[in-house]
Amino acid sequence: MQTIDFLRIIHPAIAVIFVFPLIGIVVNFAWQTRQRRLQNLAGTKSKIPPVVGKEHKEFGDWLTSAVVGLSLIGLAYPIAKNIIQNQLWNQDIFSVVFILLMFVVTITSLILLYRSKQRLWRGVFATLTGAGLVILGCQDGVFRRTNEWYWSHYYIGISASLLMIFSVAIVQDIYQDKSHRWRLVHIILNCVALLLFIGQGMTGTRDLLEIPLNWQETYIYQCDFANKTCPKLNE
Ligand code: HEM
Ligand code: HEM
Repeated sequence: MQTIDFLRIIHPAIAVIFVFPLIGIVVNFAWQTRQRRLQNLAGTKSKIPPVVGKEHKEFGDWLTSAVVGLSLIGLAYPIAKNIIQNQLWNQDIFSVVFILLMFVVTITSLILLYRSKQRLWRGVFATLTGAGLVILGCQDGVFRRTNEWYWSHYYIGISASLLMIFSVAIVQDIYQDKSHRWRLVHIILNCVALLLFIGQGMTGTRDLLEIPLNWQETYIYQCDFANKTCPKLNE
């Protein structure tokens, strides 16, 4: 396998080896946290240890970093390929610097989001992290499949990442809100996130199947994708 193709499978490999197992752990702790709370509310003493809520939150932090990091790697590959193929630094050095800066701003904002305690700053850094992802997603080279947005690995992936960032931003609200409204918002949004993750598993594997290896590209891209035909080899 050529290096350029190997670089492309780093993102899916991290998703399969690291991110999806982490989703399983987070969901398992989420389920136990809920069961424990409901059992205690009903007056029966729960056998589930009290630490499950804290574990869910800690693995949730890891999951958010992993999902945002994974999206950044997924975006970095097509953006870097576009920059190198078009030698963009010769034509528009500002764009290249801007893109590099956006990667730095997004990662720094996420780190600062974890560190902020005040609501205002959590809101600011969550917004900056999300905006960084969206701005990077708008760069040339990223295949967004906008005409079929509902089935697009890009739109589903960015939405799931934004939901993870939002979860980190509202952690203190979940704990402090006695009416459990934020808890309910969290549960509903992250059940949607779970569906989006399933979508990512399906659209990601489909995209892997559709993208040709580097040495096959010149032939495959002569094909007519609308009519699903390719030129005959002896023509
Ligand atoms: C797939 C992702 C996730 C799902 C399905 C999920 C679901 C849940 C559920 C069902 C609960 C229990 C609610 C209850 O007590 O009734 C919960 C609690 C909580 N979640 Fe999540 N969650 C996810 C990700 C996250 C993330 C990324 C964070 C951010 C760090 C997070 C932070 C919390 C916190 C702080 C609680 C309260 C824990 C406690 O009561 O001790 N969750 N979540
Ligand atoms: C949590 C799960 C995942 C998230 C958040 C995620 C996110 C992303 C994002 C934002 C992109 C860039 C936009 C695009 O080209 O569509 C991308 C690209 C991609 N992803 Fe994922 N992804 C996930 C899981 C997977 C899985 C499980 C696979 C395959 C097994 C996969 C395969 C790909 C491929 C092939 C690309 C295209 C990269 C390129 O242009 O060369 N992804 N992903």
